[in-house]
Amino acid sequence: MGAELSFAVVLRDALEADLASFFDFQRDPEANRMAAFTAKDPTHRGAFAAHWKRILSDESIVKKTILFDGRVAGNILSFERSGERKVGYWIGREFWGKGVATEALSKFLDLVKTRPFHAHAAKDNLASIRVLEKCGFVLSGEDEGFSNARGEKVEEFILEPA
Ligand SMILES: CC(C)(COP(=O)(O)OP(=O)(O)OC[C@H]1O[C@@H](n2cnc3c(N)ncnc32)[C@H](O)[C@@H]1OP(=O)(O)O)[C@@H](O)C(=O)NCCC(=O)NCCS
Repeated sequence: MGAELSFAVVLRDALEADLASFFDFQRDPEANRMAAFTAKDPTHRGAFAAHWKRILSDESIVKKTILFDGRVAGNILSFERSGERKVGYWIGREFWGKGVATEALSKFLDLVKTRPFHAHAAKDNLASIRVLEKCGFVLSGEDEGFSNARGEKVEEFILEPA
């Protein structure tokens, strides 16, 4: 990853105007299979809009749009669940494999200093696990849950910054 890339990836507050891109990214079947713990119907525009309306109005959620060379490339969020702060991210498929998630998460870790801070990833989501490892996360636990995208129970790793 060269210096050029660190200038290419920028985080800014998520805006309503970004939602059309997020919805496109959310509908990708391969991304859904990877992420596993996804919306029941990722193609349902109304459910997506209601979900993001809640996110945008919830001040406890840190929500950033990831820009790559000025284009909306994904989002990264931090939210509370079961009394713990979690992080989640989603990159549009056309931007995969360029180091965007790694750079975005590394910048996000400088913004959100709350610890503990957990990420969950399906055990077979090797790209996401690699992103977390490159940002200094280590394994802190395991869990399993029902995956809407796969229609079955899926095991996941829980990771946190070392
Ligand atoms: C997972 C995801 C965030 C990765 O985004 P990205 O911008 O492509 O990630 P990066 O380019 O920063 O890094 C990906 C790393 O994983 C590696 N990788 C990619 N696919 C892989 C695979 N199948 N097996 C092993 N490693 C893989 C890449 O080689 C790279 O590591 P490297 O730099 O050591 O070569 C993106 O694919 C995504 O948004 N997927 C759908 C939603 C999702 O899964 N979100 C995370 C939920 S936990």
